[in-house]
Amino acid sequence: MRTIKIFDTTLRDGEQSPGASMNVGEKLQVAKQLARLGADIIEAGFAIASPGDFEAIKTIGGEVEGPVICSLARAKEDDIRRAWEALKDAPKRRIHTFHSTSDIHLKYQFRVSREEALKRSVEMVRLAKSFVEDVEFSPMDATRTEVSYLCEVVEAVIAAGALTVNVPDTVGYGIPSEFGALIRTIREKVKNIDRAVIAVHCHNDLGLATANSLSAVLNGAGQIECTINGIGERAGNCSMEEVVMALRTRRDIFDADTGIRTEEIMRASRLVTKITGMYVQPNKAIVGANAFAHESGIHQDGLLKEKSTYEIIRPETIGLHKTKFVLGKHSGRHAFRTRLNELGYSLSDEEINHAFERFKRLADQKKEIYDEDLEALVAEEYTTVPETYHLVDLFVSAGMNQRPTAVLKLKVNGEMIEKTEHGDGPVDAVFGAIVSITGTKSRLLKYEVKAITGGTDALGEVAVSLEEDAKSVSGHGSDTDIIIASAKAYINALNKLAARKK
Ligand code: KIV
Ligand code: ZN
Repeated sequence: MRTIKIFDTTLRDGEQSPGASMNVGEKLQVAKQLARLGADIIEAGFAIASPGDFEAIKTIGGEVEGPVICSLARAKEDDIRRAWEALKDAPKRRIHTFHSTSDIHLKYQFRVSREEALKRSVEMVRLAKSFVEDVEFSPMDATRTEVSYLCEVVEAVIAAGALTVNVPDTVGYGIPSEFGALIRTIREKVKNIDRAVIAVHCHNDLGLATANSLSAVLNGAGQIECTINGIGERAGNCSMEEVVMALRTRRDIFDADTGIRTEEIMRASRLVTKITGMYVQPNKAIVGANAFAHESGIHQDGLLKEKSTYEIIRPETIGLHKTKFVLGKHSGRHAFRTRLNELGYSLSDEEINHAFERFKRLADQKKEIYDEDLEALVAEEYTTVPETYHLVDLFVSAGMNQRPTAVLKLKVNGEMIEKTEHGDGPVDAVFGAIVSITGTKSRLLKYEVKAITGGTDALGEVAVSLEEDAKSVSGHGSDTDIIIASAKAYINALNKLAARKK
């Protein structure tokens, strides 16, 4: 049986989803979870794109053990040198360089000939190779590239030292039979193909990213590039959980598997959701809230008799356990830390102390604390940013015949400021007060509320996306009171914008 490598690009292509940008601390947490999950390669960022990306790659390379850490670089000298600078301390490192090869891109976007594109690609693979042994090359927009030229480029970059050649379906244009045939053609026509691994990188514009990646595996691909929850540019990338579980569940067809520890899938999915604020649709395969919910009486009857009647994957396989009451008001610090460790979180003493204080406050409001509640608390620890704005107090009044009013007190750079505002509803009034105190010029792109567990005493989780100067950030907050959670989420996003400016 073949082992297919999993190249996770949640932190690079995934981060290109509008509003999904993550700070260095958040990226580090995701990278640690990807390592627990057993990803073979983590594309930690695009070093030249921003100082934040550079820092994230460097930090992840220094702190995350196990996977190969990779930086993306255009086929340009400065990009490759910058990628090397970010990666040089990582024990296992890869430079992933790319150049478009389709006539559409070459003619309209880059205005270079095929010969020039080929020459640059080869030269830049050689340059990358002078820094690292492990070099990957992607002919961007491969699925719209003339096939004989594509094969020529692939052969030339392998001769220059690329150990992985990635075939990106950049615009999600391919369909499974055609994409599989393309991979087979590359295997048959490229003379030195046995010296490299064929990777695939499929976008989901036609909803076919997973199907295309699987078709590629059937035709010889040895690496799949994917993201947690399928986030990514436009309609996203191939979803890691789907492709991994398809290979695992249908080993009989694929005769291939991955090294992914599937019991970590659910935790990875929740972490990425919390950090990016991008919720998963309920009917999403594998990690959607309804993926294991059986509604029909006939199905429930079958399941009670024998699980395999309607269940092709056991929920435990992806780390989904029955939600259970875990802790309460009387639980101590030791039980709290132990449960977090069991859930796979390792917090410093300072983080534990802080999270424990918040846990106690929550336990006063909410009798039963579930794993999901703990995960929400931890997510807030992980996403702390320097607090330019700190929520001190909030009073809200609203009702059927009342004008919604918010009285908000914030500490701004140490100075206490209080404002009263009215709005269409309580959240609008609170946001109005925040705008009036902070003077923010940012635009609210998204506001979403979700209950973490059942019951009216559930923790409410709010995700907010803000845009300023064409850059977006997400913020989140949780509280048993959704108005306070909303204020926390907005303030968290504003703190991220402030941190970014600094
Ligand atoms: O979609 C794409 O083509 C990419 C490349 C940089 C690999 O993300
Ligand atoms: Zn991509």
